[in-house]
Amino acid sequence: MRGISKSFGGLRALMDVDLELYPGEVLAIVGDNGAGKSTLIKVLTGVYQADKGEIRIDGKTVQVRSRRDSIDAGIAAVYQNLGLVDSLPAPENVFLGVEPIKRIFGLPFIDNREMRERTIAILRDRVGVSLPNVDEPTRNFSGGQRQAVAIARAINAAELKVLVMDEPTAALGPEETRNTLNLIRAVKERGTSIILISHNLDHVFKVADRVQVMRGGRKAGVAVVANSTRRDVLGMIVGTDVDEDAHV
Ligand SMILES: Nc1ncnc2c1ncn2[C@@H]1O[C@H](COP(=O)(O)OP(=O)(O)O)[C@@H](O)[C@H]1O
Ligand SMILES: [Mg+2]
Repeated sequence: MRGISKSFGGLRALMDVDLELYPGEVLAIVGDNGAGKSTLIKVLTGVYQADKGEIRIDGKTVQVRSRRDSIDAGIAAVYQNLGLVDSLPAPENVFLGVEPIKRIFGLPFIDNREMRERTIAILRDRVGVSLPNVDEPTRNFSGGQRQAVAIARAINAAELKVLVMDEPTAALGPEETRNTLNLIRAVKERGTSIILISHNLDHVFKVADRVQVMRGGRKAGVAVVANSTRRDVLGMIVGTDVDEDAHV
């Protein structure tokens, strides 16, 4: 993303923001409330249209005017509420609205076996999990299992290159948080790049390769996790050097 600007009425939510994402990396986006993190990724996922700027994928300019455009470009988001239908099992959720059809004596039927096999394959090959309860309603799933199904659905919706996760650990307890961070690593290791919005620097430092800091609608900087401390990143978030005792 290059030179992205976006205003809501008189409020300038994004000013000339760049973002680079490389294959196979987890890029975290951090920053205070209102810094423009969600708006930036909503421009990428076609929820909002930028007033100015350019999105390029593999060197080619793409027009992202809708969520469909974004999915067609290989980008999908998993939001905090996950958007699963709780009464349906995993395959029906993964294929919601795009069910495979088979014909028997010329009549169309949903191909449940195909749906189930492909769901299990996506979970195994792209998400790195095997769900013992794949046929149960997802309301019976743990938080981590539900997240895995939501990610599998995003992967199934697109030739997915980029998975966007906005605050995936915000509402989770310690164990579910650990599961989610493991899930992020597993998805990355299986070839999907990830943009992770988080306000938790501990989580960011556990799973991200780089961190982009947003401040007041601008890109404040980027840090390579392996060469940075939390204090470096915190300094960019607040825009000053912070004292030794500051903690996040
Ligand atoms: N749909 C909208 N309408 C009006 N203002 C918005 C809208 N979405 C975001 N904003 C404003 O844009 C700024 C950036 O918001 P946001 O991108 O949600 O920040 P963050 O995700 O970093 O907390 C904030 O001032 C917010 O109030
Ligand atoms: Mg936000």
